[in-house]
Amino acid sequence: MEEISPINKSGESLKIRLCLIALFAVITPALHAAGPGKAAIASAHYLATEAGHEVLANGGNAFDAAVAVSSVLAVVEQTSSGIGGGGLWVLHRASDGFEVMIDGREMAPAAADKDMYLNADGSVNRDLAVTGPLAAGIPGEVAGLDHLATHYGRLPLSESLKPAIRIAREGFPVYQKFFGMLKYKEQDIRRWPAATQAFLPDGKIPAMGDVIKLPDLALVLEKIAAEGRDGFYTGGTAQRLVDGVRAAGGIWSMADMAGYTVKEREPVRTSYQGYELVTAPPPSSGGIAIAQMLNILEPYRLAELGKVQRAHLVVEAMRRAFRDRALHLGDSDFYPVPQEMLIDENYAAGLRAGIMYDKATPSDMLPGRENLPEGTDTTHFSIIDAEGNMVAATLTVNTIFGSKFMVPGTGFVLNNEMDDFSAKPGEPNAYGLIGFTANEIQPFKRPLSSMTPTLMLSEEKLAAIGTPGGSRIITMVLLGVLDFMDGNGPESWVSLPRYHHQYLPDTVFAEKDAFTAEEIAELTAMGHTVQVRERPWGNMHGVMWNRKTGEVTAGSDSRSDAGRAIVR
Ligand code: DON
Repeated sequence: MEEISPINKSGESLKIRLCLIALFAVITPALHAAGPGKAAIASAHYLATEAGHEVLANGGNAFDAAVAVSSVLAVVEQTSSGIGGGGLWVLHRASDGFEVMIDGREMAPAAADKDMYLNADGSVNRDLAVTGPLAAGIPGEVAGLDHLATHYGRLPLSESLKPAIRIAREGFPVYQKFFGMLKYKEQDIRRWPAATQAFLPDGKIPAMGDVIKLPDLALVLEKIAAEGRDGFYTGGTAQRLVDGVRAAGGIWSMADMAGYTVKEREPVRTSYQGYELVTAPPPSSGGIAIAQMLNILEPYRLAELGKVQRAHLVVEAMRRAFRDRALHLGDSDFYPVPQEMLIDENYAAGLRAGIMYDKATPSDMLPGRENLPEGTDTTHFSIIDAEGNMVAATLTVNTIFGSKFMVPGTGFVLNNEMDDFSAKPGEPNAYGLIGFTANEIQPFKRPLSSMTPTLMLSEEKLAAIGTPGGSRIITMVLLGVLDFMDGNGPESWVSLPRYHHQYLPDTVFAEKDAFTAEEIAELTAMGHTVQVRERPWGNMHGVMWNRKTGEVTAGSDSRSDAGRAIVR
């Protein structure tokens, strides 16, 4: 077993950390005065990446490009995100170093209730929680796009939405991932006539390359282009949505729609090896978990460790962060999330002290367990523009094609984000995640997310990273961040073999090429249960600007056929 000597991170390092944060505050504006001179966009679909560049070429900035990319994905990748869903956009403005997260997360309607998915015998009705209109929260993406255009972009919404409107009307060719997901979810889609008409034209799965046109969606987008958020949350579109949802058994109201607002959130900030990370705060759990895991890991000098030793410590950090996620995290507007404590280095030092260097900690043994009460899809894109403005955005309808439910005459599926709440204490959701009071259902509350759009900044490099993948988002971003810290670029982060631990189940899940048989044997000897999964996971897209070399690079995950990274 290799020798590991964690350097003492508390006391002294708190001062260093405060100095670093002060230093960032002083140098950040100066740092970004001159941009990279070219732009990089990496997203899950080539038409979205191209649309982003089109808007940049027409005088837009990264924030306008984010509107274009988001809205094109909302047309061509409804498996994963759309205007029936929500998203989180983390922004960095080059001119003054200002950073913010735009929270366009879905919201529970007023009539939601903490027991709304329970059967008479107290069990959870999983079908209601994930399929059909009752699974859908009030969508936030349109409000997010309007906010981006109004407050940060240079172009009106009507300009940045042009590519999406054009593609909805003229159509897009069916690609491998879309085709595969249609086959996988065909039966659920068939339950809803409007979704069937949109995605199974002629009543059957279209062939690869067949063109899917969504004229109803083009009309909805045109109304948003003309009227902004009001064109969606009030008036005819809102009425159509509310009527359609209620007719099929849902509980939305016109007041829920009109009352939806975007929230500007202060990002979670943490430092690691001289970089500042700017990442997603509640209602996402991602940023807090990333900060917590990096704090646990930093003193271990991971770069000097062998692969198995490193993976063991990384897994132990994952386990602890996911335990805290289950216990403490939810929408901070509704629940007192102990954020400061969770991202504090002293707290991490306490957690680190419980990690053995050569032995897995069974999840059941972690303190807190005794206090527990009884009992793919989504999308990410990363942008840096010629001036150095950056966007890391993760958008979602939750599981593949969301709730599958489509209101007739709209052309877009509604999310099933209500399943990101804890429907019952300790009961696993679609990603096996459990939660308690912090994440129970309440009217107007936002369900806890794992989405982790993240920026990494130093004097030398600026980067944006993120991915879909449910609970695995957090651990994929962690592995990507650690790879970045090892000196590698986006092409490497997006193609890394992945492993994941989420506290419960007490299992390390690994992609096929993550570990050799010998490495698995070593981890098993340490007490880990390793389960190799046939199917890969994630769809990561990252960009990076190396200020020293002037190089701008981008990477798109090869696990999906449609993604594209373009530097121009
Ligand atoms: O917000 C969340 O955490 C989930 N709705 C994300 C779902 C997801 O990434 C599915 N992707 N494979």
